[in-house]
Amino acid sequence: MAKLAGKVAVITGAARGIGRSTAEVMAREGAAVVLADRDLDVAEAAAQEIGSAAAAVRFDATDADSIEAVIAFALKQFGKIDVLHNNVAMTAEAWSRDTSVLDTTLETWDLTMTINLRSMFVASKAALPYLIAGGGGSIINMASGAATSGSPGLVAYGTSKGGVMTFTKYLAVQYGRDNVRSNCILPGVIQTEQLLNVLGDNVAAATATTPYPRAGLPTDVAELVAFLASDAAQFLNGQMIHCDGGSSAGRAGPRRNSPA
Ligand SMILES: NC(=O)c1ccc[n+]([C@@H]2O[C@H](COP(=O)([O-])OP(=O)(O)OC[C@H]3O[C@@H](n4cnc5c(N)ncnc54)[C@H](O)[C@@H]3O)[C@@H](O)[C@H]2O)c1
Repeated sequence: MAKLAGKVAVITGAARGIGRSTAEVMAREGAAVVLADRDLDVAEAAAQEIGSAAAAVRFDATDADSIEAVIAFALKQFGKIDVLHNNVAMTAEAWSRDTSVLDTTLETWDLTMTINLRSMFVASKAALPYLIAGGGGSIINMASGAATSGSPGLVAYGTSKGGVMTFTKYLAVQYGRDNVRSNCILPGVIQTEQLLNVLGDNVAAATATTPYPRAGLPTDVAELVAFLASDAAQFLNGQMIHCDGGSSAGRAGPRRNSPA
């Protein structure tokens, strides 16, 4: 049987990239999916391709009312919510605006925290009563490998993703006893359109030391989200899971062999 049969999932930032792929994989696994995005036309086209078990809704991660409206839309459309995939983040724009501490404006810092972290708080707060009332559910939050160490740029993005990890642990501890499981994914380099636009020919350089011999694909993350949403992941709660081909385990290079 499809592993998400009968479940209803809300995915934020679902018009493209990992969110879109997640909507496709969850629908393939039998879930009804709500694609929430600021680009409604693109989200609607994606929902149409997925079929009748998919619906798109306009969503602005900077606007608390709009986030709450997404949850209300899902309830009206499909009658319940079982899964919340908090996926939205400021991505492509971050690469030019979000740099070092001295060069990043307060406006960029605040906007990043609002889209990446505050929206997750608002969406979780709005969905939790329904997850609990339905007997439980699964919240899957998107962090990033950028949260686990410093780097020359992306100070606001990386810091916000550290907050996502901590927030996930609070969700897991505070609502685990209500059968609501919360877990966090830390993707490595995933070849979404926005990332390819930013990195261009540098994808190979960015993944030169990744132990697994290729860069990540949106489906790599989407399959993990679908697993975490499913009952097969029942005993996983409060976990931080890297999906990065092993980059977080270490840097690969030519293997040293003993002299013959
Ligand atoms: N792609 C990667 O390599 C990578 C690596 C680590 C973490 N991540 C995380 O994975 C998640 C998805 O990343 P992606 O690469 O698929 O992103 P993406 O840019 O391809 O897609 C993001 C979607 O969110 C929507 N969006 C952006 N800002 C919004 C806002 N304010 N309100 C409503 N919608 C908005 C966009 O329209 C877009 O459809 C993010 O949380 C990102 O931080 C991605």
